[in-house]
Amino acid sequence: MSAPIVRPLAELRAMVGGWKARGESIAVVPTMGALHEGHLSLVRAARANCDRVIVTLFVNPRQFNSPEDFARYPRTEHADAELLGPLGVDALFVPDGDEVYPPGHATVVTVSGVTEPLEGAHRPGHFDGVATVVTMLFTMTQADRAFFGEKDWQQLQLVRRLAADLKLPVQIVACPCVRAADGLALSSRNQRLTDAGRGRAAALPRALFDASARIEAGEPVAAVLAAARAGLEAAGIAPVEYLELRDGETLGTPQPGRPARLLVAAWLDGVRLIDNVAVILR
Ligand code: PAF
Repeated sequence: MSAPIVRPLAELRAMVGGWKARGESIAVVPTMGALHEGHLSLVRAARANCDRVIVTLFVNPRQFNSPEDFARYPRTEHADAELLGPLGVDALFVPDGDEVYPPGHATVVTVSGVTEPLEGAHRPGHFDGVATVVTMLFTMTQADRAFFGEKDWQQLQLVRRLAADLKLPVQIVACPCVRAADGLALSSRNQRLTDAGRGRAAALPRALFDASARIEAGEPVAAVLAAARAGLEAAGIAPVEYLELRDGETLGTPQPGRPARLLVAAWLDGVRLIDNVAVILR
């Protein structure tokens, strides 16, 4: 059986009101659909943690950098609802664009600092779109806990900052990145790779894990990153937009003794792939 699709906000609010009145806890898993095992792992974590689970499906036009990319984004609502049914999802909330951004909508949520480097530098406006829609998804669902994947590491830090700064009554729960058997991080965008590109894509996580191990072993960061970048380009994963070691929380300069993160964005087959791994700096 498919998960029940709820479209009008008024209908969602009535459901949520009933659950709250009975003292039930509510989880939200925000998605843009085209669900894969990475999303399903978030849903399972949500199911294990809360009485009620809402998955949201909204392909948010404000976080795309081009209308073509927005138009090309896979839309598989019915298949998504079927995948979610057996997981015990209480509602698949699929709001209409006009309800999320009605005429006259003029509020933009901007999180500074953590959003500025990396994705923020390469995708102007992207994180304003994410922060604005996530804030609305939190207020629309009134969730107690929200589940996000570590695959989008910078987005996760943005959401944590946003929830803390706005004192939103929602706990942010991070879940590990899910990888294919060859190490490639699962992403809805992987569907767009050709067979040949998919065959080469595992070079990306291999380069990250290898660079992380060499940095942890004390090799100079700049030399390790230059070699990793050259290796990716030689494997046809180019251009590399960024490959940088950053503080794991602030995304600023990494500090010894604090968790660091190695993050990458690179192109393969005309598809932009992002990934990240932990690095322990002594
Ligand atoms: O990670 C995503 O799929 C999106 O950025 C999110 C959090 C659903 C907001 O549109």
